[in-house]
Amino acid sequence: MSRPNLQIALDHNDLEHALADVFKVGEVVDIIEVGTILCLQEGQKAIRCIRGMFPEKKLVADTKCADAGGTVAKNVADAGADFMTVICCATIPTMEAAKKEVEELQVELYGDWTFEQAAAWREIGIEQAAAWREIGIKQAIYHQSRDALLSGETWGEKDLKKVKKLIEMGFNVSVTGGLDVDTLKLFDGIDVYTFITGRGITAAKNPVEAAQNFKDEIIRIWGQ
Ligand code: 5RP
Repeated sequence: MSRPNLQIALDHNDLEHALADVFKVGEVVDIIEVGTILCLQEGQKAIRCIRGMFPEKKLVADTKCADAGGTVAKNVADAGADFMTVICCATIPTMEAAKKEVEELQVELYGDWTFEQAAAWREIGIEQAAAWREIGIKQAIYHQSRDALLSGETWGEKDLKKVKKLIEMGFNVSVTGGLDVDTLKLFDGIDVYTFITGRGITAAKNPVEAAQNFKDEIIRIWGQ
């Protein structure tokens, strides 16, 4: 089992504040994400600036793309992104088109989705996790939405079961949504690919210390 990556999500409303935070913690984390909010606000400009600051880091554009996958993926790749996200309800053709343009495509899991291609669903064109593997998608992001967490959802056994099953299916699974350092121990013994945290770092009094605390806890649980 390898050590999970630590990814910072830059969900800032403006580029200036995102750059100030990533300047401080960019070297501590393994992967940098231009978050959905920042993508919507600043688009390619944000990706280009951060790629310029960190030429060697893996860079994710969290577009949560639902359509026009090829165009969106080409745009983020041209700006310097390595990975891009699509929403799990996007069609297979959208995912296939996006996948051609980026190093890796990540399926972002929200709301209702299924593990298998149930025959009844296939008939009406709904194809899910098994179909994503069939077209060669390697990464899935298991997400507790901000809004679900705000309405009282918490991380628990139900999430661990799904994360484990996705890993068994061959996905590299990232985990995200309101994570704090204490949440990580829930995943002890599970081969998580990446922990993605936004506010756990960016809203901390000392973001560098917060990023280091996440990193130290990952190393404590999974080793170097
Ligand atoms: C929201 C996201 C966030 O980037 C991700 O969930 C991390 O944010 P936080 O740790 O602040 O919950 O994808 O759509």
